Amino acid sequence: MAHRRLPAAVSWASLAILAAPLLVVACSGDPYPQSTLHPTSDTGTSIDVLYRQIFWWAVVVFVVVQSLLIYTLIRYRNRPGAAEPKPIHGNTLVEITWTLAPAVIIVFIAVPTIQTIFKVAGDPPPGAVQVEVIGHQWWWEYRYPELGVVTANELHLPQGRPVALAITSADVIHSFWAPKLSGKRDAQPGRQTRLVFTPDSVGTYLGQCAEFCGESHANMRLRVIVEPAAEFDAWAARQAGPPVPTDSTQALIVAGEEAYKRIRQPGNHSCIACHTMAGVSGGVLGPNLSHVGSRTTIASGILANDSAGLARWLKNAPGEKPGSLMPKIALTDDEVAALVAYLRGKQ
Ligand code: CUA
Repeated sequence: MAHRRLPAAVSWASLAILAAPLLVVACSGDPYPQSTLHPTSDTGTSIDVLYRQIFWWAVVVFVVVQSLLIYTLIRYRNRPGAAEPKPIHGNTLVEITWTLAPAVIIVFIAVPTIQTIFKVAGDPPPGAVQVEVIGHQWWWEYRYPELGVVTANELHLPQGRPVALAITSADVIHSFWAPKLSGKRDAQPGRQTRLVFTPDSVGTYLGQCAEFCGESHANMRLRVIVEPAAEFDAWAARQAGPPVPTDSTQALIVAGEEAYKRIRQPGNHSCIACHTMAGVSGGVLGPNLSHVGSRTTIASGILANDSAGLARWLKNAPGEKPGSLMPKIALTDDEVAALVAYLRGKQ
């Protein structure tokens, strides 16, 4: 039978297609944006060390079992005239070996696993930065009770200081997961779970709600921004104070605030019904917008926080995030422009 060889051009084309994702990854800066195998905190490192230990135990078990299997298949295969192999049923030495060996391996896996569980879920050290993390359909609320800061979706943390996240939910079960920093932790209504860790490297780390929570579960992203401690303190001080006005024209900002407060018929839709704004007040159903201009993204990380992103969101929130509690509101282009200027000014 003749083998048909693929033309060289086809082989090169398939190679190029296979390599394309690698190139995309190489161009995007951090090649492992959501990898638990590249930890950047103390508990992340503990989990990684445990994972690698268990991985090598699994390699040992795999190699031993497969070697025995292959040896047995070859050594005792059916051959014409070969004698029946001797049964080993009731062989005490073999029975003891294959009972004890897995038991010993399980002990070597269980002890470090339990140690790591206690380490990760332990009491926060004194002086830890306390953050209340509240999952909502479909965004994250962060409250720093000691610092007087309330923000959304982008969690700022100081490098080298222990942090204690107290995690809960306002509606259904979510799961807070920033893979490079720590393991997952469920956010459950009426219950508080905890994550304690010390971030060790400055950077922006991506995360994601990790528990199916409805239509826009996949759009419930998050970012953790780890800054040098002094920068974090400055950020917290700015967030706790009134928003600093920016250079947008004053008239547009005034029009934006007017549009922000306006109640629209039908549906009584108004921004302040659901969103708190420092100095204007408002509801708590949606993210606190007091310093919304200082965030890099909006809508839990699915849109850039620039004029185009804000305008898209204001014009049709459910179109960007299916099921969004923020409805589609009938806004004129002038109102959108004024609201964008007003919100971008909230630094
Ligand atoms: Cu929240 Cu999935």
